[in-house]
Amino acid sequence: MLEEFDTQRFIDETIQALKREVDGPAVAACSGGIDSTTTAVLGCRALGERLTAVFLDDGLMREGEPEAVVSMLSKLGLKVKLYDVSAKFFEALKGITDPELKRKAFRSTFYHTLSKVVREAGAQYLLQGTIAADVVETSRGVKTQHNVLEQIGIDTLKEYGYRVVEPLKTLYKHQVRKVAEALQLPKEVIERKPFPGPGLSVRVVGEVTRERVELVRRATKIVEEETKGIRCFQAFAVLMSDRATGLTEDGKRRYGEVVVVRVVESLDAMTAKSAKIPWRTLEKIRRRITEELPTVTRVLYELTGKPPATIEFE
Ligand code: XMP
Repeated sequence: MLEEFDTQRFIDETIQALKREVDGPAVAACSGGIDSTTTAVLGCRALGERLTAVFLDDGLMREGEPEAVVSMLSKLGLKVKLYDVSAKFFEALKGITDPELKRKAFRSTFYHTLSKVVREAGAQYLLQGTIAADVVETSRGVKTQHNVLEQIGIDTLKEYGYRVVEPLKTLYKHQVRKVAEALQLPKEVIERKPFPGPGLSVRVVGEVTRERVELVRRATKIVEEETKGIRCFQAFAVLMSDRATGLTEDGKRRYGEVVVVRVVESLDAMTAKSAKIPWRTLEKIRRRITEELPTVTRVLYELTGKPPATIEFE
């Protein structure tokens, strides 16, 4: 419960535990989100120079994200390395349309790629920012969160050659925010909306290709820009696999892409409501998407809450 959570005590105990548990060099897998940044900063306080923060550019991030994240982590005093591994991810995702198989292909590529990185750093430990909701949802079989391994019986030492350390795995999002505030992380990190580990791949229904990711990346940017002033948990675009009829400027029939706009309110991602955003905002998003991305013929707004839907589409 919110009132019972003692933030400072959690920080002190976690730093002590990391000092005990991690007896050599370690790598922290960072995405720029609040969970992994909080984990990396706790790791740095416990391990100092022994910790290297790594950012894998999988080609599935939002516009400008890799550079922005690396710069933010360096400013926090972390030793950071950026790896461009996008080709590996697109190769692994090629031809896969089933959402669970996509998540599993992402997970396997992510952790095998990290194996090399961890080995290069001479480390045996990987710190990652798994939180309680990730564990609960994967264990319940809702979906394969990319970062849940040990809890579903994956022996990471055997499978990937390192131990996974997850200092936040008992916390929910609002508690992680308190820890991040106490650690004085920048506002941009604390207020950053959650973004899924497998990135835009869970927002492309059907096959994930560079072109389809680029389309959803551009639509996402429009949705994020236009919803900046709206209080919500997440706001994003999804590219559907079906096409729908539309008209060209000279009145000819054509098939085009269908983009879904999703804006949700939630406290902890376990349940969510579709946000009642102003019609004029929706209309502006619609206009910008169809004008700036002319292959799109339809823009839909998603009304379903969680449950029965999930927040992401895949
Ligand atoms: P769903 O779609 O399950 O999402 O309702 C709940 C929250 O988790 C995020 N999400 C993920 N985060 N790895 C992550 O780190 C994942 O594989 C993943 N899948 C979903 C989602 O954005 C939402 O905040």
